[in-house]
Amino acid sequence: MTKKTTNCLICNSKIRPFLNFGKMPVANGFLRRKQFPKEYFFKLSVAFCKKCKMVQLVKTINRERMFHKNYAFYSSTSKFMAEHFLKIAELIKKRYLKHPDPFIVEIGCNDGILLCHFAQSGIRHLGIEPSKNVAGIAAKKGIKVTNEFFDRALAKKIIKKCGKADVVFAANALCHIPYLNSVITGIKNLLKESGVLVFEDPYLGDIIKKTSYDQIYDEHAFYFSLASVKKLFETHGMEVVNVQHQDTHGGSMRYYISHKGAYKPKKKVSRLLAHEIAGGLVKEQTYKILAKKIALSKKELMELLSGLKRRGKHIAGYGATSKSATVINYCGITPKVCDFISDITPTKIGKFSPGAHIPVYSHAEFLIREPEYTILFAWNHAGEIMKNEKGYTKAGGKWIIYVPQVKVIK
Ligand code: SAH
Ligand code: TMP
Ligand code: ZN
Repeated sequence: MTKKTTNCLICNSKIRPFLNFGKMPVANGFLRRKQFPKEYFFKLSVAFCKKCKMVQLVKTINRERMFHKNYAFYSSTSKFMAEHFLKIAELIKKRYLKHPDPFIVEIGCNDGILLCHFAQSGIRHLGIEPSKNVAGIAAKKGIKVTNEFFDRALAKKIIKKCGKADVVFAANALCHIPYLNSVITGIKNLLKESGVLVFEDPYLGDIIKKTSYDQIYDEHAFYFSLASVKKLFETHGMEVVNVQHQDTHGGSMRYYISHKGAYKPKKKVSRLLAHEIAGGLVKEQTYKILAKKIALSKKELMELLSGLKRRGKHIAGYGATSKSATVINYCGITPKVCDFISDITPTKIGKFSPGAHIPVYSHAEFLIREPEYTILFAWNHAGEIMKNEKGYTKAGGKWIIYVPQVKVIK
């Protein structure tokens, strides 16, 4: 464990890592063979700030390395997520956009999985999406989108051009942005007096409960709890008025934030905060225990995989998720152990996984090869995948999962 300290991305206090994963690649950096020699690696480690309670990456990498014209994550590959965003779109329309000429802004709109519902209803909207390929898909759906990074300066430009917003929405986006104070200043300026920020991100409480350490990778600069979110927005004169737990991405939290005093906070907010305090989310010791559990999970997974390989079993992976980059590279899963990963994303197929260079094959190839064991890297989509793969399971295919515990499912 390194003793080196760095500064908290939020409050600038000294922080020290509780967990080091070692050298890691860019999690969505799927690559071709000729790109292997130039692959970028960095040291992935995580810290807890005792002052502002934020769990965060110690080193973040340049945003252009992650979000660019070949960004590999397309939101609309999951039907479950499409349904999830349809539901929240309906709720936002009903609750916040009933008056004449409402305006909604989405930070990190990706391929337009949410904003399509506002475009279709003729509601004034703007998507902000720095990754050009996915922004282009959104634009083709008739969504107004700007191919830029959101921050305080961009908020100013939007206000000038479009006026202030009734709703700012962000899903799995704010936790991606290390310069979060600038982003929140931008959101605060952009929101009308009655405006609401609705955002959701993977929830730290679930990461701890399930030891889902695969949420930790380059793109996720922050691992939010209500405690850290509440403190952060308070420093900007805003407050958390509601929270709703979500089943997405292995357990997420949706936060509703307004200007201070604009809405009465729901009792749920103080109840969740008390629950987090009782559960130790604001105590350093919790993270030391988490680090030990992660090391144990790695040991158990590698013992299982090595045992299967010794018995000559054929193992593949399912879902070349960004999360899988952490598991594969931290645990040391090589193409000798897991000889391919099945994925439905056209731009990932035919490439190799970052770091370990496991080939990514199409789903058709998965059905042909029928591995005896399949590591479910997309465990957060288990419901959807198990339904689709009943044939594989019935034919004797076995699933390996590692969250919340390492085990084989038949
Ligand atoms: N909201 C989508 C996409 C999440 S992936 C969903 O939940 O499925 C995160 C997205 O945030 C990526 O598309 C990435 O390009 C975008 N992003 C990263 N930094 C950003 C920034 N500063 N401003 C706006 N979007 C950003
Ligand atoms: P995510 O966990 O970041 O949402 O990424 C899901 C990845 O899994 C993405 O690359 C698409 C892939 N996937 C499949 O290959 N098959 C499926 O049925 C689902 C739902 C996802
Ligand atoms: Zn801090």
